[in-house]
Amino acid sequence: MDTQSKSLTRSPLIDAFGRQITYLRLSVTDRCDLRCHYCMDEQPEFLPKKDLLSYEELAAICDSFIARGVSKIRITGGEPLVRRDVITLIEALGQRLGKSALSEIALTTNGTLLERYADQLAAAGVKRINVSLDTLDEVMFRRLTRNGRLADVLRGIDAARKAGLHVKINAVALKGENEHQIADLMSWAHGRKMDMSLIEVMPVGEVETRRSDQFLSLAIVRSRLEEQFTLQDIPLDTGGPSRYVKVAETGGRLGFISPLSHNFCASCNRVRVTCTGTLFMCLGKENSVDLRAALRNGGAAALNAQLDAAMQDKPERHDFDVNAGPAVSRSMARTGG
Ligand code: GTP
Ligand code: 5AD
Ligand code: SF4
Repeated sequence: MDTQSKSLTRSPLIDAFGRQITYLRLSVTDRCDLRCHYCMDEQPEFLPKKDLLSYEELAAICDSFIARGVSKIRITGGEPLVRRDVITLIEALGQRLGKSALSEIALTTNGTLLERYADQLAAAGVKRINVSLDTLDEVMFRRLTRNGRLADVLRGIDAARKAGLHVKINAVALKGENEHQIADLMSWAHGRKMDMSLIEVMPVGEVETRRSDQFLSLAIVRSRLEEQFTLQDIPLDTGGPSRYVKVAETGGRLGFISPLSHNFCASCNRVRVTCTGTLFMCLGKENSVDLRAALRNGGAAALNAQLDAAMQDKPERHDFDVNAGPAVSRSMARTGG
């Protein structure tokens, strides 16, 4: 390695606005076994399998980030557990824990396959997982996910807890859908010692329903919850965008991910890599660099150069507007949440 690339591998990833990137979200597939109607079409067009990077290539990309100071990697999708043998990638990354800058591997999943993988995830070094679950009503779950089975997810959550994984429930707040079930969902999660985060629906990707018809401000949800519960702001920082409160009556923690009603871009510490090796610098913008070409044609030094280019091109903030069209054409499943 020449002197220049050696010094590059040591320098932290700092963008043009002075924000340090320490958190990588890696989407290992854009496929999913559910079809949440706010996320994707009933018959989405998935990326051709031939375009996917191998696990070795994804691990090499992770290494280039770790060498630049990334300490947290979250495996996302689509649904990450539908990609065959994904556990081999997670195990490989687990080998880097404690031996590099990497200190945490987390996973965001819809939970349908958790029962099968919970023990292996825990053994690989995963400690925290986020399970997306918007309702405990079987009929509504089936409708929202276009035919998913709630029981599979609940068994998955039980298996994860039994395996010792710390589970956080993520629920998207949806106007006219789960909005009056949020208190019950929270009490259920807290009763099982699980944190919960609420998410505002974001205008990413084209879906059948108008975003303005789905959008429910978390400012409203919070004030409704405050009629029933005592919410106390706490300084918990998991490295993600949630702002947490402690709920006095349940003893549990509730996070608010409110990109629209409370913009948190100023403290953004993350970027996203897709399963085809595209690095997106913001969930809500098109700015990207191609890591696949860099990896295949130039190796570690070329990857490093692309990371530097990405830092100069990371947008200051998204400008989501639920009353306008999609901010970006790609869905959350493509970018990895
Ligand atoms: P922890 O704090 O580690 O639990 O993770 P997290 O809340 O960052 O991760 P999680 O996968 O639970 O993220 C939940 C959702 O928050 C994502 O699916 C996105 O919808 C949203 N989110 C995460 N990061 C960003 C971001 O940078 N911008 C916006 N607008 N939304 C984000
Ligand atoms: N807006 C907000 N959250 C979304 N998710 C998927 N699509 C959207 C959207 N348009 C959520 C899922 C899951 C996480 C990965 O992203 O419900 O919790
Ligand atoms: Fe699948 Fe998650 Fe999208 Fe639902 S929100 S379809 S679970 S990727």
